[in-house]
Amino acid sequence: MANSEINSVNLIEKNSLGIIEIDYAPVNALSQGVRQGIVDGIEKFEASGEIKAIIIRCKSRTFIAGADIKEFGKPPTEPFLPDVVNRIENCNTPVIASLFGTSLGGGFEVALACHYRVALESAKVGLPEVNLGLIPGAGGTQRLPRVVGVGKALEMVTNGKHYRVNELSSTGLIDKLFPVDADLDEATESYVEELISSGQLVVKRVGEKSVETSDIDWDQEISNIKRKARGKDAPVVAAEVIRKSLENSIENGMKFEREAFLKLRESEQSAALRYAFAIERAAGKTDLTTVPLEVNNVGVIGAGNMGSGIATAFLTSGFQVQLIEQTAEALAAGMERIEKNLSSNVKRGRMSQSQFEECLSRVHISTEYESLSGSDLVIEAIFENIDIKKSVFSKLDSVTREDCILATNTSYLDINEIASVVNDPPRVIGMHFFSPANIMKLLEVVRAEKSSELALATAMSVGKKLGKMSVLVGVCFGFAGNRMYTRYGREIQQMLLEGASIEQIDKAMTNWGMAMGPLAVQDLSGIDIGHNARSAQPFPEHDPGYFRAAATMVENGRLGRKTGMGFYRYDEEGKKYADEAAESLIRTKATELGIQLRTFEDEEIVDRAILALISEGLALFKEGIVQRISDIDVIWLHGYGFPRHKGGPIFQAKQMGKLLVEQKLDALRDKESARIWPQVELSILNS
Ligand code: 3HC
Repeated sequence: MANSEINSVNLIEKNSLGIIEIDYAPVNALSQGVRQGIVDGIEKFEASGEIKAIIIRCKSRTFIAGADIKEFGKPPTEPFLPDVVNRIENCNTPVIASLFGTSLGGGFEVALACHYRVALESAKVGLPEVNLGLIPGAGGTQRLPRVVGVGKALEMVTNGKHYRVNELSSTGLIDKLFPVDADLDEATESYVEELISSGQLVVKRVGEKSVETSDIDWDQEISNIKRKARGKDAPVVAAEVIRKSLENSIENGMKFEREAFLKLRESEQSAALRYAFAIERAAGKTDLTTVPLEVNNVGVIGAGNMGSGIATAFLTSGFQVQLIEQTAEALAAGMERIEKNLSSNVKRGRMSQSQFEECLSRVHISTEYESLSGSDLVIEAIFENIDIKKSVFSKLDSVTREDCILATNTSYLDINEIASVVNDPPRVIGMHFFSPANIMKLLEVVRAEKSSELALATAMSVGKKLGKMSVLVGVCFGFAGNRMYTRYGREIQQMLLEGASIEQIDKAMTNWGMAMGPLAVQDLSGIDIGHNARSAQPFPEHDPGYFRAAATMVENGRLGRKTGMGFYRYDEEGKKYADEAAESLIRTKATELGIQLRTFEDEEIVDRAILALISEGLALFKEGIVQRISDIDVIWLHGYGFPRHKGGPIFQAKQMGKLLVEQKLDALRDKESARIWPQVELSILNS
């Protein structure tokens, strides 16, 4: 056996096999060195008279997971990926890809260019480029339809999801599947050797196949994709490029694909989506160095919507849950909610009936705090009242183990004050889930003044196990997310008083890309919830219009969907209607406050709302509530429906540029006051 190493690629000769072994941790991305190594391997083994087959395989945890995202934004270097995949396909010696882990993007395109594909049954493949605002750029849109059919390719390329290879077994994508526990390298080598000895191994090029015609109604399909894409360009472009595969040779199809790929790569949407990918990974990297505690048994106090959602999240991630409520009735209602949450997973095909039952078998209910004596972590999720929360924590102090971590799910209250009632405040932290807690990805892990590294590191690791996007934040009213949400809400409410209509505001924000209009959100969550939370804060004298529109709604019994009316009116089926009565209550209040009515352009509404977020986000960073400025964007992408292809408020600020943000904030400060639009440190926007 002869070995030679070219950068991160080993070229191994073994009997009549030439093995191109990629060893580029963590995910074998197609860096320049890897691309060069593959081409060198193909050239070398093809030229050798001894080699009868070439295997492309990977070390570490996965086959190639895509182009090297870190190279995007830098000048492209040869060999370019489309040339690499074409070189593989045109090789005169049969090439076999050996797949495991996740073969994604460029990695899957490499596999599609190979003449054979073998895989572990657990392997997944996918073309997730649309998630980065891109389309496949190395033949994926042209080769995949030739292998799995146009309909399936259209689905895979436009949704960007990962597919288990055994789900695609009817398509001929995989020539040989091996059991999950097989030794893949050995199994691949013996499979190939058998093909060689039986004379069956041939060069079969996907690019030479024609695309099977299909009866897709392209105009209809593209309009559906556009609707689902909600403002994202890449899925629509991907569909159009796949359409070209029907009437073009692979060479021409790849030309169209490349042009579209390069254009998208320069787009603001792709920059935002790639930024989102990077900041999400950065958020998990904290200054905590302590090894987390192992958590198996979790106590949840409160079985209302929040507590049940939290319990569901823990159950679906394999934890034992001890649920506590004051009465048997409240426990029964909580169990009903948990069952409903879990059965919706069954309905959506995310969980089998037996997994549903197994999950339910891990929840234990009690009205006695003593049953928390075996818990590793307890999360309090009762209503927002500091005195009651303090009494819960004092009980917890006496019944839980000394090393049990005590977390509160409070949205606004002072965790330092809550922690003051226990003997060992370092074990108290915040774990702020977002509703519905079994669905929303965001988790704010809150560091109180005395919280220990151990408690925080454990909460971050638990968050990861729950599949949450965990962000470490400090204590202030509303922490990072809700403090910004309050600031955003203030601006929306002020614009209502100044003359923008309820519908205009919601439409302007959703047309811009927000998942929901801010006023429809308030109706959904209950206008009284925020109203009550704000009543704990003194009324700001410098801001007479502060949430007056919301207060007016509450005073008039318009609490939102639950009362059939709020900012909107709702019929019995829950359908929403604009309501003149709500507008007129707001007009009356505005007149009372002496606010001059005026008209708004949608652009101004969006601008002011986003600037409010930018201003508050920068203040939070300056105060050290978030560790890094990009955490603000992670919070808004995952907790508040901020459009991912717009990157987040701070990304938006960076796109505007420091100068323009400064001018706009100055103008707003002049119009209102420095109390509402304080001076913020803008230099961070240059980094
Ligand atoms: N390029 C460079 N680095 C990558 C990468 C890529 N394509 N994919 C992942 N990484 C890095 C991550 O940044 C992270 O680095 P860090 O440890 O320094 O933070 C590390 O690999 C591990 O990633 P994860 O934390 O995400 O690990 P997981 O095990 O949770 O997930 C994964 C692994 C499923 C591969 C996930 O990382 C992923 O989805 N990656 C992106 C895959 C992708 O989008 N591929 C397409 C790229 S575009 C393309 O190929 C264009 C082509 O068509 C021309």
